Amino acid sequence: MDKSNNNVVWHPATIDREQRETLHNHKSVVLWFTGLSASGKSTLAHAVEKELYRLGCHSFVLDGDNVRHGLCSDLSFSLEDRHENIRRVANVAKLFIEAGVIVLTAFISPLREDREIARNLMPHGDFLEIYCDAPVEVCEKRDPKGLYQKAREGKIPEFTGISSPYEAPLKPELHLDTGEQSLEESVNAVIDMLLERGIIRKAMVNV
Ligand code: ADX
Repeated sequence: MDKSNNNVVWHPATIDREQRETLHNHKSVVLWFTGLSASGKSTLAHAVEKELYRLGCHSFVLDGDNVRHGLCSDLSFSLEDRHENIRRVANVAKLFIEAGVIVLTAFISPLREDREIARNLMPHGDFLEIYCDAPVEVCEKRDPKGLYQKAREGKIPEFTGISSPYEAPLKPELHLDTGEQSLEESVNAVIDMLLERGIIRKAMVNV
């Protein structure tokens, strides 16, 4: 059923993104972390956010496990529902961009097509894909929630990397070896990228 409503008219913002960015003293952007479960997406996103907070930046982490407790609690892990999960999160991330915030999303987001949809929703250049590349063997060894073991036992259907696909990014803005490198190295790489792209300024980092 087509639920689109032709009687809903867009209301332009009184305070726009640029004004909010000026107020915050940095640009807004989406840092889209993608990778297998236990590849380090959430840990890295929260560690980057801690550093951004120290630098006086306005940021927010949207985390797969948390969002699935509320906004997306009605969704399963079928590819169709994952598509809907990413669609909703991408739209929320877009609102954060308008709010002048650096938004960090930590979702497996296994399909290239879904990530491309998310990318294309944002103004050009405002979607920075960060591939948390840890081999499935490493993630399975870490298994912090015991989910890989359950998946191997057939207790979790459609588990990413085991019985459901993960399509690695072909051209991520940042490719991190989160299986090998330290958390600190990964955080520094993300902060350096934000500096290089002029999202945050050097003066903030040297404080
Ligand atoms: S996504 O594929 O739709 O992007 P999302 O990031 O929201 O996934 O949720 C992934 C988290 O849900 C994992 O970190 C894991 O803790 C949990 N999970 C539960 N079931 C599955 C499953 N079948 N596949 C992958 N992750 C699962």
